Amino acid sequence: MKVLRTPAELREVRERNRASSEKVGLVPTMGYLHEGHNSLLKAAREQADIVVMSLFVNPTQFRAGEDLSSYPRDEDRDFAIAEQAGVDLIYAPDPGDVYPSGFATEVEVTGLTEVLCGSEDGRGPGHFSGVTTIVAKLLNAVDPDFAYFGQKDAQQASVIKRMAEDLDFRTEIIVLPTVRERDGLAMSSRNAYLSPESRERATAIWAALLETERTYPEAGLDAALDAGVHHLQTAGIEPEYFEARYPGTLDPAIDDSEEAILVAVAAQVDGTRLIDNILIEPGKKGSTK
Ligand code: PAF
Repeated sequence: MKVLRTPAELREVRERNRASSEKVGLVPTMGYLHEGHNSLLKAAREQADIVVMSLFVNPTQFRAGEDLSSYPRDEDRDFAIAEQAGVDLIYAPDPGDVYPSGFATEVEVTGLTEVLCGSEDGRGPGHFSGVTTIVAKLLNAVDPDFAYFGQKDAQQASVIKRMAEDLDFRTEIIVLPTVRERDGLAMSSRNAYLSPESRERATAIWAALLETERTYPEAGLDAALDAGVHHLQTAGIEPEYFEARYPGTLDPAIDDSEEAILVAVAAQVDGTRLIDNILIEPGKKGSTK
């Protein structure tokens, strides 16, 4: 496994192997790897000849006052996990090399970045322009055949798919299911912030989504969303949002929809902001998956 530290080193390696017909898979990460990342690395290893993992805590996607400086980091552990997962190239640059002085470009997807996490009450639209700018830079520099993202960040996945299509990136964007702890909590690097009590309370998020899925067929969408919110509130969690939208456009979903509906939630659990979602297929009766 080779570690590349600068855009120039990455360009040199990619120039050397560009002529080959080998397929390249990119897994972009901010490190502090967990089983969710591992599932992306595994898929990349199965599908691609060369697996590239980026490890970069991207400052431009954090709002002032967010957890940029305290974001969990453990490069040695991440390198060991990546090696074990069969990663060929790690790209772990310094922020100063990614955004050198004079850097003045932003890649921005409009519309679907302004709702849910992109609203002013959430992380703000600047969060997603930070994400799309770094992902565009990575797709451009690595030029992968496939790039892998997790469904836990459903809005991020929709925004990146939109960007890749709009900007004619040749890369296929692959979104893989959320990996969960045994009690349903979605895996996230930020789970590391939770105390044992908060960790226990946080299980209400997935339970609330399941409650919405269960009640939707009989009760209708509004009542099902209310049931989910009620479940969270009973656990002492006030959601930042708990909304039903269409996954591609993120337009608000309506009752008796013929399309799959994404129910997405963000909530602070004792000071840690967590997100999760469930995709409800049309006509689906509740399940306990
Ligand atoms: O999902 C993440 O970890 C980040 O948003 C990403 C896609 C690596 C961009 O920094």
